[in-house]
Amino acid sequence: MRTRRADFPHGFLFGTATSAYQIEGHAHGGAGPTHWDSFAATPGNVAGAETGARACDHYHRYAQDLDLAAGAGFDIYRFSTSWARIQPEGTGAPNPQGLDFYDRLVDAALARGLRPALTLYHWELPAPLADRGGWANRDIAPRLAEFGQIVAARLGDRLWSAAPVNEPWCIAWLGHFHGVHAPGLRDIRATARAAHHILLAHGQTVAAWRAAGLGNLGAVLNFEYALPAEDNPGAVTAAATYDACYNRFFLEALFRGGYPEAALAGLGPHLPRGWERDFDTIRAPLDWLGINYYTCKRLVAAPGPWPGLAERPGPLPKTDMGWEICPEGLAHVLNLVPGYTGDLPLYVTENGMAAPDRKQAGAIDDADRIAYLDAHLDVARAAIAAGVPLKGYMVWSLLDNYEWALGYAKRFGLVHVDFDSLARTPKASYHALARALTGRTA
Ligand code: NOJ
Repeated sequence: MRTRRADFPHGFLFGTATSAYQIEGHAHGGAGPTHWDSFAATPGNVAGAETGARACDHYHRYAQDLDLAAGAGFDIYRFSTSWARIQPEGTGAPNPQGLDFYDRLVDAALARGLRPALTLYHWELPAPLADRGGWANRDIAPRLAEFGQIVAARLGDRLWSAAPVNEPWCIAWLGHFHGVHAPGLRDIRATARAAHHILLAHGQTVAAWRAAGLGNLGAVLNFEYALPAEDNPGAVTAAATYDACYNRFFLEALFRGGYPEAALAGLGPHLPRGWERDFDTIRAPLDWLGINYYTCKRLVAAPGPWPGLAERPGPLPKTDMGWEICPEGLAHVLNLVPGYTGDLPLYVTENGMAAPDRKQAGAIDDADRIAYLDAHLDVARAAIAAGVPLKGYMVWSLLDNYEWALGYAKRFGLVHVDFDSLARTPKASYHALARALTGRTA
């Protein structure tokens, strides 16, 4: 790996990110059912009908996993709290075992010199809330804020940062429009409502956290670099529509208090009545913005109803997800975002790639991941040199884990997980990062 910690400004933070349902093993510790359990139990939804019931068994092996995170020289450990582990019914009295687990986790992170960066909600909705319409029901907003208060009361004195929701676009669109994530809907009205209610829930949670004295609060958005796949006006419009729905919708809401016209063209009629009045809540001031970036997308116009677009494969080399490796897209995003956020501190809260990562003679040579990380870190460094207030960078992910609808086959980890024995084996990328971050040579 060519990157070195010393290439970045003093105080720049490196981290690694995980999420609860993807690693913990949801079957343990009194957690209630989630909409991912039922989504996965429905034939055809998830590769091999795999669930997060056992995952990486991080619930029992968190100490070993945090040893690995600290051993690589990371400064930040980004993790999420499982709502159904803490509130099995989605509301009401917390499950003490659940809160105790996160209490141990945060203490264990701090004991290893890792700053705990909380994501309150990373996608597994308690089933009783899903039964009541989930994100399409406005009542989800006060429910998330209540969950946030419970977590803040227990962990708030030791968190480094907190964000209410991971990747609103994915929740709204993958879950309610494309139907490929829980709850598996393909319904534009549910999509519009979910997108708006996620933002409202974000704002109410930030307000509750501020009232409780919690600091360093942010939001984590996902970005893709949208490009026309062809040289024609239809493709240009398709890319602009995609950009409006994917990238600018959430930026505009959080930082300007509105939605882009190109998104309202399709979503507007389906937004909940009075949506315009919610932006005072949604625009709650933030201390930082998190950017999750993986790839670019190439669009063309397509027949049919709004948004009238289709993706086309691009020419760049692809990861195991079929995603083009497109570091210049990160440059584009790091240029776009400050137009909305000004000098607000930015963090890359996720970046990384899936690869087959087979063990050979006990070692995993993921040279492609090392190259991916180097290329994106080069872009990060250049952006900082150009004045972008980027303050940190986190790799997705520490461990191979449950890649949602794709099950366990897509491996994003710096550390290989054998899903039979649950043995952890650091990959070459882990060792390379450890050398880059600690300055150690072995
Ligand atoms: C973003 C999501 O936050 C995470 O859950 C997922 O595993 C990665 N992208 C890779 O797809």
